[in-house]
Amino acid sequence: MAVSGPPKGENTIFLDLRGVADVSAGPQIFAHAQRLGLGQRILVEIDRDPHTLLRAAAFQMREAISWSAEEAGQAWQVEIRPRAGADARDVVELLVWDHYRLDRQFSGVLAAANAGRMEEAEAIFLEYWIGLRRHVYMENHVLAPVLGGGMEQGPLADMLFEHDSIVEQSRLVEETFREQDHALLPAICAVLSGSLAKHENREENTLFPIWQAASNRDRPRAAQLLERTQALLAGAEDPAVRQTFPD
Ligand SMILES: [Fe+2]
Ligand SMILES: [Fe+2]
Repeated sequence: MAVSGPPKGENTIFLDLRGVADVSAGPQIFAHAQRLGLGQRILVEIDRDPHTLLRAAAFQMREAISWSAEEAGQAWQVEIRPRAGADARDVVELLVWDHYRLDRQFSGVLAAANAGRMEEAEAIFLEYWIGLRRHVYMENHVLAPVLGGGMEQGPLADMLFEHDSIVEQSRLVEETFREQDHALLPAICAVLSGSLAKHENREENTLFPIWQAASNRDRPRAAQLLERTQALLAGAEDPAVRQTFPD
């Protein structure tokens, strides 16, 4: 389905779903919500209780959105926003949000490369590449030693192994951009995009429940980890990140 995003500079998307059946309303909410940038919102007007539709959209987007819904006369008014990194309640929520953000960036790389807009593809890739290294650094060097999960065998060992492969594949994409081997890009980007999605899914389903439980056992430590992760993902420890994962 073709849905156009908000015009540049426009922060609110209005969606009137009165009289629209769930089978079409659900995909419309999803399609718009998926394109929401930070600072943007969707206002939905709908003539029935929207909670089931909203939960489905949030589930499809791995809880990357938050919403509020209010009944107003005959209709409901809903506001949907991206769940910003700053709203995360713990480090696991923040990492899930960051997975979603990395995925979106990477599909931006793929879309621009497929359309032959190589400069744009490279610019988005470079943002993704530093973001990925911050994310992996946080998981490998800050959270893994504290929250565990089976360093020798188990979800943590799988995670560490997959990180090596994803970093290696990303480095290959970087080289391909540098050498302007543009014909190769769509194929290697497609492989990496699949590896990323599989990895994130596995992490969210096997390791993150262990981390969430471990983090909940020590509240003051959990608050410190959250604060450090927020700062790290925003670039606060980039010298160490770049030293560990050089260009
Ligand atoms: Fe992750
Ligand atoms: Fe990971």
